[in-house]
Amino acid sequence: MIDIAILGATGYTALELIKLLLRHPQVRITAVTSRQEGRPEVSSVHPSLVGRLNLPLEDLSPEEVGSRAECVFSCLPHCTSAEIVPSLLATGAKVIDFSADYRLDDAASYLEWYGHHHPDAARLGATVYGLPELFRSQIPTAWLIANPGCYATSAILPLAPLLHSQLFMADDIIVDSKSGVSGAGRSPKLMTHFPECNESMSAYNVGRHRHTPEIEQVIGRSTGLTPQIIFTPQLAPMDRGILSTIYIKPKKAVAEGDVMTILRDAYANERFVRIVDHLPATKDVADTNFCDITARVVRGRVLLISCLDNLVKGAAGAAVQNLNCLYGLPESMGLL
Ligand SMILES: NC(=O)c1ccc[n+]([C@@H]2O[C@H](COP(=O)([O-])OP(=O)(O)OC[C@H]3O[C@@H](n4cnc5c(N)ncnc54)[C@H](OP(=O)(O)O)[C@@H]3O)[C@@H](O)[C@H]2O)c1
Repeated sequence: MIDIAILGATGYTALELIKLLLRHPQVRITAVTSRQEGRPEVSSVHPSLVGRLNLPLEDLSPEEVGSRAECVFSCLPHCTSAEIVPSLLATGAKVIDFSADYRLDDAASYLEWYGHHHPDAARLGATVYGLPELFRSQIPTAWLIANPGCYATSAILPLAPLLHSQLFMADDIIVDSKSGVSGAGRSPKLMTHFPECNESMSAYNVGRHRHTPEIEQVIGRSTGLTPQIIFTPQLAPMDRGILSTIYIKPKKAVAEGDVMTILRDAYANERFVRIVDHLPATKDVADTNFCDITARVVRGRVLLISCLDNLVKGAAGAAVQNLNCLYGLPESMGLL
């Protein structure tokens, strides 16, 4: 059994992770952390866990966490996570980090997009990006895994095979994405306040969303290209799910069937990427670790449409996939 600790256990992604790990036959959750005082039961914060996980929420030091677990999932906000990860690694624990702190290649990009000097900059660019479909071979020997961003996964999975084929222009890509409100986390914010977002849709962070450099850098890493992406996130009045519509230009006219063949060939052996003929919907992948993708050719331009559950393939499910790769377990264990 692998002893697991979860940091930031009161949040949305942590709850999803706990539910997945409770079904996983090879793990035992030994610690869940929170800044809340008084060691409340985790089920008092997440009532869906009553009778399923009897553990108190504790405000533990990294050393205490490391003494209880060999693998730690950090479900903390960015900037907070990188303050703690070095001390966790020093205890000998492996870390899967949900935050964006180790996803970018360099400290200058982190400062530009996150507005903070990175406290552990030496690990940037040297940390494995935990998207098994692209970087599987790097995962088993890693100590720290940067779990991908939810929007980023919905864009990288459809784009990477096309750009890898060299048949498409890398410098003219539009990613238009809609996300459910849980993507913003559990802490109350004006934008996610019920009367603000219910029965309403809005774009946000236009031209400056932090997943832009992540998508560009990760695709660059896997294809050797320098993609330029206009990424427009929008908030949709639903709890969970991401739908991305991606516009990319072929260098020469291309048939829809050929685009689908590129996608099918790339993901033929991937359990969690489904290349589908129909137009996928967020409901098709809700509560699952699947990313559904299709392609259309419209007026010479290729449209890629992808969808996933931001809390599962976009966060906790991807993290369990990474855990399985890290420990040599079947990749779908606990996920189907
Ligand atoms: N939501 C998604 O769809 C999604 C998808 C992919 C990645 N992520 C990333 O995963 C991480 C967790 O996301 P989430 O949606 O689960 O967030 P969340 O619901 O806001 O939970 C984060 C938890 O971290 C704890 N925390 C510890 N230090 C904190 C601090 N300084 N400021 C605020 N909270 C602090 C909080 O618990 P206490 O107050 O009890 O201490 C909070 O419940 C984030 O880095 C996020 O960017 C989220």
